[in-house]
Amino acid sequence: MNVLMVCLGNICRSPMAEGIWRKHINASCLKVTVDSAGTANNHVNEHPDLRAIEIAKKNGVDISGLKSRQFSVEDFDRFDQIFVMDGSNYQNVISLCRTNDDKSKVRLLLDLLPKQPIREVPDPWFGGMTDFEKVFNLLEDACKEWILHAKFLNNSLSK
Ligand code: 4NP
Repeated sequence: MNVLMVCLGNICRSPMAEGIWRKHINASCLKVTVDSAGTANNHVNEHPDLRAIEIAKKNGVDISGLKSRQFSVEDFDRFDQIFVMDGSNYQNVISLCRTNDDKSKVRLLLDLLPKQPIREVPDPWFGGMTDFEKVFNLLEDACKEWILHAKFLNNSLSK
């Protein structure tokens, strides 16, 4: 299973999501790879925002070595699930779909948390550390739900 996290710049939300997923995957027996990308190209090859690095580090996740890249149409071939942070990312990714199969891979990340009143992971770029912390917690809650579901599927399929 290959999972891709997508936001706008690939320097705040999606690299935090990538690091969180990787940490929880490593702690489980799941065979999952995770990557992240941005729909825009203005931060390509940059490390994550320092605030994202700091909040992640405080929570035991090292994302300092990640580098931003732009989402490309080949990602539909490389990934089974593509999680986007907000409606704008969704529109940008959907506009590149070639087939219904491509489209079926794309979901809003917070669909994993149906009881959560907000549907989009807010962009913390113009915010402060509290905004980054809120985003980190949302991402981790979504990740835990995904891992539970993936473990359940994994167990059912191996029985
Ligand atoms: P991200 O945050 O999409 O979570 O990586 C942003 C980073 C940079 C910009 C916007 C959002 N920007 O406009 O440069």
